[in-house]
Amino acid sequence: MGRRLGSFIFFFLVFFINATCCRGKSQQQFPKKQVPFFIFGDSFLDAGNNNYINTSTLDQANFWPYGLTYFKFPTGRFSDGRLLSDFIAKRAKLPLIPPFLQPGFRQYYHGVNFASSGAGALAETFRGFVIDLKTQLSNYYKVASWFRHTLGNDEGEATISRAVHLFSIGSNDYMSPFLTNPTILNNYNDSTYVGMVIGNLTTVIKEIYRGGGRKFAFINVPELGCVPGMRIIKSDNNGSCLEDATRLATLHNKALSKVLFELEKRLEGFKYSLFDFNSNLRQRMQHPSKYGFKEGETACCGSGQYRGVFSCGGKRRVKEFQLCKNPKEYVFWDSYHLTERTYRQFADQMWGGTSNPDDVGPYNMKNLFQIH
Ligand SMILES: *[C@@H]1O[C@H](CO)[C@@H](O)[C@H](O)[C@H]1NC(C)=O
Ligand SMILES: *[C@@H]1O[C@H](CO)[C@@H](O)[C@H](O)[C@H]1NC(C)=O
Ligand SMILES: *[C@@H]1O[C@H](CO)[C@@H](O)[C@H](O)[C@H]1NC(C)=O
Ligand SMILES: *[C@@H]1O[C@H](CO)[C@@H](O)[C@H](O)[C@H]1NC(C)=O
Repeated sequence: MGRRLGSFIFFFLVFFINATCCRGKSQQQFPKKQVPFFIFGDSFLDAGNNNYINTSTLDQANFWPYGLTYFKFPTGRFSDGRLLSDFIAKRAKLPLIPPFLQPGFRQYYHGVNFASSGAGALAETFRGFVIDLKTQLSNYYKVASWFRHTLGNDEGEATISRAVHLFSIGSNDYMSPFLTNPTILNNYNDSTYVGMVIGNLTTVIKEIYRGGGRKFAFINVPELGCVPGMRIIKSDNNGSCLEDATRLATLHNKALSKVLFELEKRLEGFKYSLFDFNSNLRQRMQHPSKYGFKEGETACCGSGQYRGVFSCGGKRRVKEFQLCKNPKEYVFWDSYHLTERTYRQFADQMWGGTSNPDDVGPYNMKNLFQIH
C-alpha cells in the first residue's frame, strides 16, 4: 500500500516536473546558438513581400518569366532564380528565408525577409507602392519581440545579438526622381540628397543596435546611370550612361563606407561587412567573358535598346518583350536586375571573399555568421 502510494507520488512528481520544467522555452525545437538572418531593403533582396501589398506590376515580379530558371514558378523575386540573400542563407546552412508578409509565416527562428522592391531609405521614394525602410524597421520590431517572448528575454536578446542584418538600400532613392519627376532633385544639391539617404539609413542601423543587434552587412549601390533601364531614359544620348544618376551613386558609396567606419568606432561591439557591389558589377559589365558570361550590358528580358524598356513579362506599360534563350549568359536579367548566376557569384565573394581582390570587408559574411 505504502509502496504503491510512494510510486504513485514518484510518478506524479516526475510527470509534474516534466510538465512544468522548460514550459514555453523551446529548447528542443530551437537549435542552440542559432544565428538568424534578417534581410532589409529593395528588389535586390525582396523574396516576395510585394506579392502581398497593394502596389503595381512595376514593383512586382510574380509572373512569368520571373523565376523560370530555378524555382520554375514566379516567387516575386526580381530574377530568373535565386537572389544574393538566398545564396548567403544557403552558405549559412539556413533554409530560404521567407518574406515577412507571407501568409501563415510565424516561426521566425531562421530569420525573416523584410525587403520590398522599389523601397528606399526615404519615405518619399515610390511612396504608396512599397514598404519603406522605416516600415521595414517596425516589422522587425515585431519579430524581435517574438524572439524575446518565445525564448525568454535573455536567450531572445542573445539570439538577436548573434543575428546578421543585411541591407540593400539607396538605388531607388537615386533612380526614382529620374523615373518619376526629376525636378525633385532641384530642391537639393547632390550632397544634401545623399546625406538624407545616408541619414535615414543610419537612423535605422542605430535603432537596431539599440535593440541589441550587433552584426550588419551591406551592399553598396551599382553605377546606376549604366543599368539598362537608366541608359534609355534620355532619348537623345544614344544609350550612354546617365551621368547624373551615376554621380549620386558614387557619392552614396563614399558616404556609406565612411559612415560605417565611423559607426564601428563609436558603437561598442558593432561589426559589419560591406560588399562592393558596384565594382563587382562593373567588372562583369566590362569584361563579361572573364566571368563566364556572354553579355554584360544588355538584359536577358525586356525590350528596346539594351532591353532597357522595363517590359519583362508583358504585365507593365509595354506588353511586348524579348526573352533570351539562356539567362546564364547574361549579367542582367531585366532592365534593372541581375541573373541568378550573377547573384551567385556575388554571394560567393560576400561569403568567403577578402578585401582584396573581392572587395568585402572588414568582415566577410562567413566571419559575421560565425563570430559570437
Ligand atoms: C489599391 O490601390 C489603388 C490605387 O492606388 C486603390 O484604388 C485601391 O483602393 C487600393 N486597394 C486596396 C484594397 O487598398
Ligand atoms: C549643398 O547645400 C548645402 C545646404 O543647402 C550647403 O551647405 C552645401 O555647401 C552645398 N554643397 C555644395 C557642394 O554645393
Ligand atoms: C530622412 O529623410 C527625410 C525625407 O524623407 C529628411 O527630411 C530627413 O532629414 C532625413 N533624416 C536624416 C536623419 O537625414
Ligand atoms: C549610337 O550607338 C551605337 C552603338 O553604341 C553606335 O553604333 C552609333 O554610331 C551611335 N550613334 C550616334 C548618332 O552616336
